[in-house]
Amino acid sequence: MLSVMSAATHPPSRPSVLLDCDPGHDDAIAIVVAARNTDLVGITTVAGNAPLTSTTHNALVMRDLLGIDVEVHSGSSRPLVGKPKHAGHVHGESGLDGADLPEPTTPLNGTDAAQFIVDACHQHDKLWLVPVGPLTNIALAMQKDPAVAQRIAGISLMGGGSFGNRSAVGEFNIWADPEAAQIVFSSGAPIIMAGLDVTHQFQATPARIERLRAIGGTLAISLADLLVFFSMMYQRNHDEGHLQGGAMHDPLAVLALTHPALFERTNRHVVVETKGEYTRGMTVIDERRLIERKASNVAVLTYVDAEAAFDLVTAAVAHFTP
Ligand code: RIB
Ligand code: CA
Repeated sequence: MLSVMSAATHPPSRPSVLLDCDPGHDDAIAIVVAARNTDLVGITTVAGNAPLTSTTHNALVMRDLLGIDVEVHSGSSRPLVGKPKHAGHVHGESGLDGADLPEPTTPLNGTDAAQFIVDACHQHDKLWLVPVGPLTNIALAMQKDPAVAQRIAGISLMGGGSFGNRSAVGEFNIWADPEAAQIVFSSGAPIIMAGLDVTHQFQATPARIERLRAIGGTLAISLADLLVFFSMMYQRNHDEGHLQGGAMHDPLAVLALTHPALFERTNRHVVVETKGEYTRGMTVIDERRLIERKASNVAVLTYVDAEAAFDLVTAAVAHFTP
């Protein structure tokens, strides 16, 4: 039986992944972890933590900092219904405040993320879509080509949970575009869900941030500075002492694929509320032990070995440090 550490350092699989993101401090970590541990076939950007222009700029900055050759395509600047919602109160005006980051030097590869996603689903067998922002681009791709849900290996997403962060029950990625989320959750594609119940277990504590900083070099020091800012913003929004650092949500959606032994999961039926006055944007997770409940459509992550997961973050950053 592989120990957790052994599983953590020898990934059982190197899945083909398309990362859809709204960088975003934790998205930036997810980009590093995906670049190191997956066959990263593309990055698409969506409005979320910041406007699309900013999230796209930030994805290009991260591509340059890693020195990786992967296409970046921008996508939707707004949800399917309603106005864009952002999270400057957590990520700052730029979406990636807190570090002195270089301007991108490589150009954007396209501006139709939904079409890029459709094409990638046909070009790559067993492709995993890993959305870690609002699900608008994924939903638009499914509307463009209904075969997407059948073509892909599955969707490993960050979003939802048994509680919210933008309302009592609305987690930002779902709450920002509930219609898109319901299209994805009802698509029939295999779904792994990294919701707040598991992502709040994965915090950027001061000790972990200093482990990153100790690697040295522009990437590590920039990420450490970003996580200091992110944690400060996160902690000032929460009860004193409740969190020891910002919740690093998004990399867990990647690690759930590359290092499944670090997680515990439970199969549940999940739908997204799009109508409720107080519950719009809620992932309604059926926890009943009644045999009448509907068949599960989601593997809900319930636990992560946070220390082993952070070992993988530091290993990924070190890998991209000359
Ligand atoms: O609620 C957390 C999610 O919203 C994360 O993906 C974070 O980056 C923001 O997009
Ligand atoms: Ca995100």
